[in-house]
Amino acid sequence: MKKLIAGNWKMNGALAANEALLRSLITGLSGVAPAADMAVCVPAPYLAQVQSLLSGTPVAWGAQDVSAHEQGAYTGEVSGAMLKDFACRYAIVGHSERRQFHGETDALVAAKAQRALGLGITPIVCVGETLAEREAGDTEQVVKRQLAAVIHAVAHCTSEIVLAYEPVWAIGTGKTATPEQAQHVHAVLRKQLSAATQHPERVHILYGGSMNATNAASLLAQPDIDGGLIGGASLKADDFLRIVAASPAV
Ligand code: PGA
Repeated sequence: MKKLIAGNWKMNGALAANEALLRSLITGLSGVAPAADMAVCVPAPYLAQVQSLLSGTPVAWGAQDVSAHEQGAYTGEVSGAMLKDFACRYAIVGHSERRQFHGETDALVAAKAQRALGLGITPIVCVGETLAEREAGDTEQVVKRQLAAVIHAVAHCTSEIVLAYEPVWAIGTGKTATPEQAQHVHAVLRKQLSAATQHPERVHILYGGSMNATNAASLLAQPDIDGGLIGGASLKADDFLRIVAASPAV
């Protein structure tokens, strides 16, 4: 399966900076057959800009969240139908920053994943343990609980999600999980998926957390690491392209 390298811009960007970044990406990709599938998940106000700059290129785009509700009196929320208006292919759901700072529960994350799938948007479902949970030996239990809620909600559509394992202690810290640590958790998640879908091998399981141009190759060489969800390094075209190029050929 071709790897998927997805950028998560988080709350970064500005019209001029986005344009420069995307133009550099497109230039860097011209004339090469990209080693991986690619996407950028951007702040909602920039979706129109990203759609106009990336249409017809090999880089897909998406949002960083989606409302669990269909429409109505939910001030500040962005619906899946609105994301569809801008041809979003992906929506990140359950990023640890949303779980931590916005109180998102497993049940809410699952409802968001379900809403996205219902609209033909692929949810990039994030799971991951905190440092305290890892140190307490609870890593497997935590990620399995987070994934179980989504499987319960999306049922037969489980093979259509993208999963991202993002250890919270590795996000934005410069501390990456070792390839072995990440592979171990990815294998646990793959096994859990295999109980829920006949085609667990079709689900991309991305690693996220300080993945960069230097460590990407060793992470992406692991059998159950199917790509990356890239924060900081996705804001620099050169770094993002080097991560894409580090993807092993299929
Ligand atoms: P990072 O972020 O690459 O900056 O650690 C990854 C993420 O939060 O998705």
